[in-house]
Formats: sequence, structure tokens, C-alpha cells
Amino acid sequence: MNTLQENLSDSIRFIRSKTLSNPTVGIILGSGLGSFADGLEEAVSVPTSQIPNYVRSTVEGHSGELVFGRLGGKEIMAVKGRVHYYEGYSLSQVTYVVRLMAALGIRKMVVTNAAGGLNTSFKPGDLMFITSQINLFFDNPLRGVNDDSIGPRFPDMESDYDREYILLAEQIALNRGIRTQRGVYAAHSGPTYETRAEVRMLQRMGVDAVGMSTIPEVIVAKHGGMRVLGISCITNLGTGISHEKLSHDEVTTTANRVKTQFETLLRDFIDMID
Ligand code: HPA
Repeated sequence: MNTLQENLSDSIRFIRSKTLSNPTVGIILGSGLGSFADGLEEAVSVPTSQIPNYVRSTVEGHSGELVFGRLGGKEIMAVKGRVHYYEGYSLSQVTYVVRLMAALGIRKMVVTNAAGGLNTSFKPGDLMFITSQINLFFDNPLRGVNDDSIGPRFPDMESDYDREYILLAEQIALNRGIRTQRGVYAAHSGPTYETRAEVRMLQRMGVDAVGMSTIPEVIVAKHGGMRVLGISCITNLGTGISHEKLSHDEVTTTANRVKTQFETLLRDFIDMID
């Protein structure tokens, strides 16, 4: 069996045959937020289905491509269509894209998702900066043999989400008149949305927003020494808080509604980080 490094080398060789871009910022685009990648200049799209050792996404609305391009003066790699654990993949497969980012030299990552709001002061359409995370996958992408050349056996998670990045993003939102929140994000395997009892439990645990992604990616990003900004688009309130029945349609409709604000925030943020 190939080592992670060997797999990464094969994937990178293929990517290099399509683009010579040297991205410094990686962006993972959540449900309904993928159109951000359409605004990149000199964009080269690499379908993930063609990349050796990359798994396929099976969810509707997640097309599966890596888009390399420029934004302002910076070179970006945007991930359109992340791979989810609920599709049946292992957490190391789910986070392979973050390994690719690190192998390409990326040390700054913006990760976005659609999430259910559990904090009752949140409204659907709010953007929440993630301050910290609670891993409810009961699994960890770093489980197994550690490659010390990539990162430490026991990574520190004290600075999971970069405080300076949050302050900068909040300042941008203020200047642009965009309503934002801060909070703790928890995620579980899915694919079921939470029960009413689970929502009440998570609220008591201090969770502000819940989803089914992001946490494994951030663990791998921290292992690889990256600085991370996390943004949740609160697409709905958790089960039992609002009385509507939850559906994937509602999630993508709300994400689409706030897309412009989200893209403005992201564009300004990328412009302003050094
Ligand atoms: N729960 C879990 N994942 C989600 C939700 C939710 O309410 N909304 C969007 N993704």
C-alpha cells in the first residue's frame, strides 16, 4: 500500500500537469456557497474525479472540483464540493483535500459550511465565525500511524480557529454592514439532522451551530500548521427551535440568499490577510 506522501505526490503531479499555480490560500466552499469560485480570475478547474487518489463526492449540489485562480493579488485554491463522512468515506479520505493544500504549500485556510443554528438569538441567513469546535464524529482523521514530517503525533488544538482572523473578518463585516455572529460549532457524522432531544443536549453543551463537516478538515489543517478562519452560514434553526421541517432544499435556498454578503466578506478577507 502506498504511503500518504506517495499518494500526495501522484495527485500533485496530476494537478501540476493542469496548472502551475502556487496557491497560498485554500478555501473550502460549503453547501450552496460554491459559486464563489466562479469569481476567480484566470481560473483553472480540475475535476476531482480525475485526480489520482481523490474520492468522489456523491451529494447533489457538490460538483467536486478544485478551482485554481487569482483573487486580487493572491493565488487561491477553492474546493467546490467537499467530500462528507456520511457518504461512507473514512475521515482520512474526507480530509485528503486539506493534505493536498498543505502539500501545495498552503498555510492559510478558510473553511465554510451550512449549519443549523442552536443559539436562539441567531436568525437563518446569519454568518457565524467559528470560535472553537466540538468533535462529535467519535473518530479522528489523525488516527493511525503519524507522519512526523507532516505534523506532530499530538497536535495542540488551543488555537483551532485563528483569533486575529476572526477580528479581521468582524471588522470587514462591520464596514460592509453585514450581520455576523460568533460561536462554537459542533459536527457529527450525519446524514440525519438532529432530533429535538439532540438539539436540547447540544444547546446545554454550549453549541451555537451544528453541522456534518468542517471539524475533520480543521484537525488536519492544524496538524499541517495552517491558520484557519471558519464561517458557518446559519441556513436554518435546529429541529424543534423553528417549527418547519428541515430539508436540504431549505439549506441551499438560505445559503443562496446570503451568497452575495458571504462572497463580499470572503473577497475582502482574502485581500487583507498577508
Ligand atoms: N443540522 C446539521 N447540519 C446542517 C443543518 C442542521 O440543522 N443545517 C445545515 N446543515
